[in-house]
Amino acid sequence: MEAILLVGGQGTRLRPLTISTPKPLLPTAGVAFLAHQLARARSVGVTRIVFATSYRAEMFEAAFGTHAHGVDLAYVTEDEPLGTGGAIRNAATALTCGPDEPVLILNGDILSGHDVRAQVDLHEKAGAAVTLHLTEVDDPSRFGCVPTDGEGRVTAFLEKTPNPVTNQINAGCYVFRRSAIDSIAPGEVVSVERETFPGLIASGAPVMGYVESAYWLDVGTPEAFVQGSRDLVLGAIASPAMPGEPGERLCLEGAIVSPGAVVRGGTTVGRGAEIEAGATVLGSVLQDGAFVAEGATVRDSVLGRGARVGAGAVLDGVVLGDGVSVGPGNELKNGLRLWPGITLPPTAVRFSADA
Ligand code: GTP
Repeated sequence: MEAILLVGGQGTRLRPLTISTPKPLLPTAGVAFLAHQLARARSVGVTRIVFATSYRAEMFEAAFGTHAHGVDLAYVTEDEPLGTGGAIRNAATALTCGPDEPVLILNGDILSGHDVRAQVDLHEKAGAAVTLHLTEVDDPSRFGCVPTDGEGRVTAFLEKTPNPVTNQINAGCYVFRRSAIDSIAPGEVVSVERETFPGLIASGAPVMGYVESAYWLDVGTPEAFVQGSRDLVLGAIASPAMPGEPGERLCLEGAIVSPGAVVRGGTTVGRGAEIEAGATVLGSVLQDGAFVAEGATVRDSVLGRGARVGAGAVLDGVVLGDGVSVGPGNELKNGLRLWPGITLPPTAVRFSADA
């Protein structure tokens, strides 16, 4: 089976991490986020993937080449971002399959443990134009929702509302009949959620919902990104691409963790990163070359490449861009993000407000 991977978004919610690296290439549990998706796609029978690229397009081919994790890879770049539907249509020019064959479409920022083969089986049995993975969430008012009828056919795509009619939401993994992709207008900005799916339903085409509430996470925000990395390291979601066994921490080549430091909760310590004695690092991502000095505490945070945390500083739910330096004694919380180039002098900040 062939697949299209949507990786052209700017990842604005994950800035400043996505200034230098597109979201799908951010190091996540020791490898690029996409490596987890490629390995998983291979494990469900995908043999060829077309990347739909736009933002920082050249970095994808440089990272993966023409074959990785057992999958052949091709790249199609948009001159201007075409949105999700336009990107799928554009990338389809590089597909080789026939008009009736199923094509798997994956968002480049979803970590999912659902049964993709069962989704494809449902698609084939139903003779559907598109079959979407739907997941159930506790608070559907934060999302648009997707109701289905007794036969599993999608009846509508509803915008966010305080009183949703169902807790089923679009989980960002679709099986399209190839001919349904070819019916999207070429070269135009199109959203699958707002235009393609509602259009297919209105025309009477069979659009099916495959409902499964396995592990599912959209890693598009800093909190979710940290959670995804933590869950991979701890083994809460299995990935064939994980470089090592699941455990409390993942230390990459050249990482130095003092025996006097506490490092756990699914923390990743990047290449050449260092954690000194008396420091505590919990459930965090330290990118390559990051440094945490003695007595500092870092929890649920991301430290970009070469970022430094001074002695006794406290970080909780914080993102430090590449090279940021936090002086000793600062206390940073509440989703604060510091852009590359920032240096905080000692004890300059205590408990910043929401960023
Ligand atoms: P935010 O800016 O933080 O919302 O992130 P994003 O740019 O990734 O947008 P969003 O999370 O809505 O995108 C869902 C998926 O579609 C991601 O995998 C994106 O990379 C991808 N995507 C979004 N827009 C485009 C586009 O115009 N072209 C391509 N090729 N992919 C896109």
